[in-house]
Amino acid sequence: MRIPFNKVYAANKEEQYVLEALRSGAHCGNHSFCNRVIDLIKNKYQDLGEIYLTPSCTAALEMGAVLADISPGDEVILPSYTFSSTVNAVILFGAKPVFCEVDPETMNIDPNRIEELITEKTKMILPIDYAGLSCEIDKIMDIANRHNLIVMQDCAQSFGSTYKGKSCGSQAHLAAYSFHETKNYNAGEGGGLVVNVKEWEERAYFLQEKGTDRRLVLNGVKNKYSWVDKGSSYLLSDILAAVLLAQLESEDEIRAKRSKLTEAYFKLFDQYVKRGKVRVFQPTADHELNHHAFWAVFDSVENKNHFMLTLKEKGISAYIGYLPLHSSPMGMKLGYRPEDLPLTEELGDLILRMPFYTDLAESGLEQCMAEMEKVLTEMYPN
Ligand SMILES: Cc1ncc(COP(=O)(O)O)c(C=O)c1O
Repeated sequence: MRIPFNKVYAANKEEQYVLEALRSGAHCGNHSFCNRVIDLIKNKYQDLGEIYLTPSCTAALEMGAVLADISPGDEVILPSYTFSSTVNAVILFGAKPVFCEVDPETMNIDPNRIEELITEKTKMILPIDYAGLSCEIDKIMDIANRHNLIVMQDCAQSFGSTYKGKSCGSQAHLAAYSFHETKNYNAGEGGGLVVNVKEWEERAYFLQEKGTDRRLVLNGVKNKYSWVDKGSSYLLSDILAAVLLAQLESEDEIRAKRSKLTEAYFKLFDQYVKRGKVRVFQPTADHELNHHAFWAVFDSVENKNHFMLTLKEKGISAYIGYLPLHSSPMGMKLGYRPEDLPLTEELGDLILRMPFYTDLAESGLEQCMAEMEKVLTEMYPN
C-alpha cells in the first residue's frame, strides 16, 4: 500500500451541505454557511475575538497586514523557517521582513532572540505555530506590549491547538488560520482571520468587503452600501464554507484519529531520541496539540536523505520541511545570506516531516511504522 504524505479527508456531510449551498441562491461570502461555521467556531473556542472567513490563510495574513496598516518603512519580525505566505504579507505592503532564529525544540520563533531585532521601525511580530504546536505567545505578547508592537500569529497549522489553556489565535492582536486541503479541517482552499482588538472589528468587515460598508446593509442598518475604506475581496464563498462546516462538525472525531498518529510516531522514535540519534518536536505540559504534523531532526543530512529515499522506494512519502526564506532566491534578493541565520539553515537541512493524514489512522499506520522501524534499525543498529 502506498502511503502519501497527505491525503484529503472527507467527513460525512460535505455533499449534502454543498448541495444545500448551491440551491440556497446565495453563493457569495458572509452568508448562511459562513455564519454557521463562524458560530460553530465561536461556540467551541469562546476565547477568540471576531472571526472573518477568507479564501485562504494567505489572504487572512494579507487582510491582517492591511488592518495593521503595514506600510513602506515598517519592519516586521518573523521566523525564516516558515511558508512564503507569512513573508509575502509583509513585502506586499512595502515593509521589510526581519528574520529571527528558531528555537530548535519547537522550530518556532525563538522569543529570546526577538528583542535584539527591534528598532524604532519595528511595527509587528509575526510568529507561526509550526506543526500545530503553539509558539510561546505569552512571551511574545509581553515583548510586544513593552515595545508597543502589533502581533499577528500565523496559525495556519494550529487551528484547535491550545497553549496554557488558551486557544491558538486568541492571544495575539490578529491571527490567521488555514483550511487548505493539507490542513486538519479543509475547505479545499480557505482561511480565517481572528481579530482580537474590539476597535478593529468594524474596519475589518469593511476591508474584507472591498472597502465597502456592505456589512451595515447585511445587518439592516443601511439599504445601500458605499466605498468607505481601502480593501479587497477577502471572502470565502458560501459553497466552500459548506464543505468546511461538514469538516468542523467532525472536529472531535478527526482530532481523535489524528492523535493516534502522534502517539505512534512518538513511540516509534522514542528509543532513537533517547540514544541521541534524532530529535522530535516536544510538546510541553503547556501545549495541547491539534495533531497536525510530526517532524524529526536527524543527526546528519545523509541520514535524513537515506531515511526519506529508502521509504520512498517503499511507496512511503516523508517530506522535507520549509526551505528557510532568508536563503531562498527571494530572501537573497532582499540581501540576506545563508550565514545570517545559521541555526535555521542547519535545522532546515536536517528536518523531515512524516506522512500525516486523518485516514492513515484507519489504514496504513501499522505498515508505515513497521517500514520506518526497519529503516531506523538498519541506520542506527544497537
Ligand atoms: C505557516 C503557514 N502560513 C501560511 C500558509 C498558507 O496557507 P493557505 O494555503 O491557506 O494560504 C501555510 C501553508 O501551509 C503555512 O504553513
